[in-house]
Amino acid sequence: MATHREIRLRTRPEHGLPAPEHLALVHAALPAPAAGEVLVRNRWFAVSAALRTLIAGGVKGAPFPPVDPGSPLVGAAVGEIVSAPDDSGLRPGDLVSHWQGWREYAAVSAADCTPLGDSLPDPVAHLSQGWTAYGALTRGAEVRAGDTVLITGGAGALGTMAGQIARLLGAGRVIGSTGSPAKAERLVAELGYDAAVVRGAPTPFAAQLAEAAPDGLDLILDTVGGEQLSAAVAVARPGARAVLVGALSGQLDADGPGTTARVELDSYPLILKRVSLRGYSPLDHPETEGEWRDRFGDWLRAGAITFPHVRVVGMERAAEALREVMEGRHLGAVVVELS
Ligand SMILES: NC(=O)c1ccc[n+]([C@@H]2O[C@H](COP(=O)([O-])OP(=O)(O)OC[C@H]3O[C@@H](n4cnc5c(N)ncnc54)[C@H](OP(=O)(O)O)[C@@H]3O)[C@@H](O)[C@H]2O)c1
Repeated sequence: MATHREIRLRTRPEHGLPAPEHLALVHAALPAPAAGEVLVRNRWFAVSAALRTLIAGGVKGAPFPPVDPGSPLVGAAVGEIVSAPDDSGLRPGDLVSHWQGWREYAAVSAADCTPLGDSLPDPVAHLSQGWTAYGALTRGAEVRAGDTVLITGGAGALGTMAGQIARLLGAGRVIGSTGSPAKAERLVAELGYDAAVVRGAPTPFAAQLAEAAPDGLDLILDTVGGEQLSAAVAVARPGARAVLVGALSGQLDADGPGTTARVELDSYPLILKRVSLRGYSPLDHPETEGEWRDRFGDWLRAGAITFPHVRVVGMERAAEALREVMEGRHLGAVVVELS
């Protein structure tokens, strides 16, 4: 029997964050495509902190269902078509993106595969979180020329793209938050941030932010929530816009369930400064996907943007990579490369 390897959830953690012992690398039967499905050999997949929420049981109304014990993990992947139905428009050898990462082969509905073509110079760049960042900064809350922008979680997969995109869209000052002074330095030195603030540092987050944004914030792209969103609202300028795309503070709270993200907000500055807060999902604006891909390809080819990521080679390193992502050990996206 032909087999492949996949990483399954062995058990949900009773407390705290998932660790490699909660996962299992198993040999399983090669997936057999049903009618309308293609067989894909995965070449890269993304390792994302969002898995903590899915492993913890998920959030009602979210676009992705929870991962149950015994099931393979999920996440964005890029792979090569091995076989496809004649009427699918896909051919063996085509590269596609889809949502069944964490396994060497996947049987995927042809409708759920996005052909990659040559829109981006490196296929792995299709695993960037840039589409969400771009949509949030153009549709969720439009960046205006000269804006002072805060990207919380600025060193994460989404944040490393968002800081660069904000600048390309005309922001005047771009500030990012991150988890260590070393990463703060890299945000400024490598990704064009003007300043970076550090969560968990001896100086309170709000005081660092007030110093980094002495004239206040025009736009907040929030991937963290918690004290970072509270502090950002406190220094918002009149008419500031906050676009909320993630909740890392709740998602990665080892003392919490991973499925809630509480924020304490002072409503006075919201009212008096007419600040707007808006949740954003790129699924609300599907038209931005092609627009983003074209602009990303142009920016990459012109050297105006990078796809900050770390490549981890081999399925056997993937479980550890998830722990490293949740511990904030890397800058940018983390991608597992399968040989
Ligand atoms: N709305 C959507 O469609 C959409 C799409 C994509 C992602 N998201 C959400 O956006 C958020 C960011 O996604 P991502 O892929 O960029 O995440 P990610 O890169 O997987 O996040 C990992 C980073 O989180 C940071 N982190 C760790 N513990 C933290 C804590 N307690 N508080 C704050 N930050 C912590 C660490 O960075 P530092 O050490 O630098 O702090 C770590 O490197 C997630 O909540 C994700 O679910 C939403």
